[in-house]
Amino acid sequence: MKVGILTGGGDAPGLNGIIESATRALLNMGHEVVGICDGFEGIYEGKTMPLTLDAVRGSHAFAGTLLGTSNRSGTEGREKEFQAAYEKLGLEGLIVAGGDGTFRCLQAIEGLKLIGVPKTIDNDLSGTDVTFGYDTACSVVSEAIDSLRTTAVAHKRIVVVETMGRTSGWIALGGGMASMADAIMIPERPIDLSAFKTFLLEKHKSQRGIIVVASEGATLEQSVERELDKSGASVLVADYGIGEKLSKWIEEQIDWEARHIVLGHLQRSHPPTTTDRFLTSAMGIIAARLADQGQWGKAAAFIKGQVTPVPIEAVMGEPRNVEPNHRWVKLAQSLGIFI
Ligand code: F6P
Repeated sequence: MKVGILTGGGDAPGLNGIIESATRALLNMGHEVVGICDGFEGIYEGKTMPLTLDAVRGSHAFAGTLLGTSNRSGTEGREKEFQAAYEKLGLEGLIVAGGDGTFRCLQAIEGLKLIGVPKTIDNDLSGTDVTFGYDTACSVVSEAIDSLRTTAVAHKRIVVVETMGRTSGWIALGGGMASMADAIMIPERPIDLSAFKTFLLEKHKSQRGIIVVASEGATLEQSVERELDKSGASVLVADYGIGEKLSKWIEEQIDWEARHIVLGHLQRSHPPTTTDRFLTSAMGIIAARLADQGQWGKAAAFIKGQVTPVPIEAVMGEPRNVEPNHRWVKLAQSLGIFI
């Protein structure tokens, strides 16, 4: 068989691990592997590259994607054009590492033989317990906090660290817990500002520096709304710029100097952790096996500690937000973290 591999949407550490492991496994099974360049653009424009062992070897250790990706072009209104361009590539089927938006676009293409690998650093895809890239993003956050704590303590300041996560708080929660931040703000739990003020005033009596982690989707408003995103999923409405807003609010409310830092795309560009490498090795192999067995329409999810095939629709549901009273929230509270 000639099998294509495509990476779509925003990049996540581990994409190259998926490409390398799926390619290695497919080649070992005697198949030919073709990389589609730049996400859907590669299909429309017929841009591909042969994926040989030499082409992929060692790439798993780096973030980014050796195929390139794009979160701009979709398939809506271009289904026929996509189908015709895809047919020209002469592929038996396609392995795609992408998010729910990428899969939704591909589901609209009639007869496409597809295997999905759920991808986002945000960890908020349905149908899987974890997504690759998440562990790496958390480790970037916790390493940043470990460093920032030194300057916070030196200057007796509050440092607000804004993390990615769009409208979900997994990265702030995981990274904040791993580095024992003092406070964690996530979109799923409206901030009780008066309790937060009391918490900070109390800390001010004895603690030199404070680290507050705020997910980019957290808001100072007391209620969070939902809206439909461009792929049709119902997501929480983000209040972007929370790091800056929160540090200003702190300085206005209490006499304590505050700074903020936005970690941004650093969270997507760090070399994958061993946990993410192991996950992507296993997911890539399972995706290759599914293709080999002709089990199209499946995705390689991670459920109860194991990479497991699920129907691709399972990873396209409503975003999996942090339950407001999730056990990690309770663990954070037990550590004295304000959340
Ligand atoms: O969904 C993944 C993500 O990294 C979010 O955490 C973030 O809000 C968004 O992508 C950023 O996207 P872009 O690279 O298009 O700015």
